[in-house]
Amino acid sequence: MTAPAASLATAIGHLATDGFAVIPDYFDGQLCQALKAEACALDRDPAAIDAGIGRHSAHATDPAIRHARIRWLDAATEAQQQFLGAAETLRLNLNQRLFLGLFSFEAQLALTPPGGFYARHLDSFRGARNRIVSLVAYLSEDWQAADGGCLRIWPPSGVSPADPQPEIAPAPEATPPIDVEPQRGTLVLMLSEVVPHAVLPAHRARPSVAGWFRVNSQNPISKH
Ligand code: OGA
Ligand code: MN
Repeated sequence: MTAPAASLATAIGHLATDGFAVIPDYFDGQLCQALKAEACALDRDPAAIDAGIGRHSAHATDPAIRHARIRWLDAATEAQQQFLGAAETLRLNLNQRLFLGLFSFEAQLALTPPGGFYARHLDSFRGARNRIVSLVAYLSEDWQAADGGCLRIWPPSGVSPADPQPEIAPAPEATPPIDVEPQRGTLVLMLSEVVPHAVLPAHRARPSVAGWFRVNSQNPISKH
């Protein structure tokens, strides 16, 4: 159901050297279709909430920063179970190859409506050692450039996953941003503490899954 191991190994290499990796066609089309159907039903799903910028007590919605509907994955459906299984395979591979000691995974299904976006942000505060690797999976087939909604990544300079807490702030981004189309099956991995990213305004409903591999499942830093 996933792409051959060689492309995963290559992607994990990119994650280590560049801070991010993009793998087209990583997720199975049928799985994406099933998750997309769940995402498109989020408007009437009692477990769904308006997307916040933070977790738990810090959960706050700010439509100037983000506009989307989400629900946390809880293995409620076969598709969610399958996705969480694929994430577990990724977690084991990341730990094996990069010695990251990733301990747990959490993910949310998201539906960004037409006009929705997510302003530039980091998924984890530097040094929080909370969310270490971010994952994004896209679910919509035949995404066109005119549909907008690209993930914009600002490549960091001097990335080291073994030392994501440098004493000295990294230099301003030397390379221009990279835009990734939210095409069905594409997997994006990013180092959560060092890779700023944004979702550009989408002109069409944009279903996705965003997840985070963490080193500690307890005491999440309340600010994020
Ligand atoms: C996020 C996020 C990116 C995307 O949910 O934190 O950055 O492309 N998502 O949906
Ligand atoms: Mn993010």
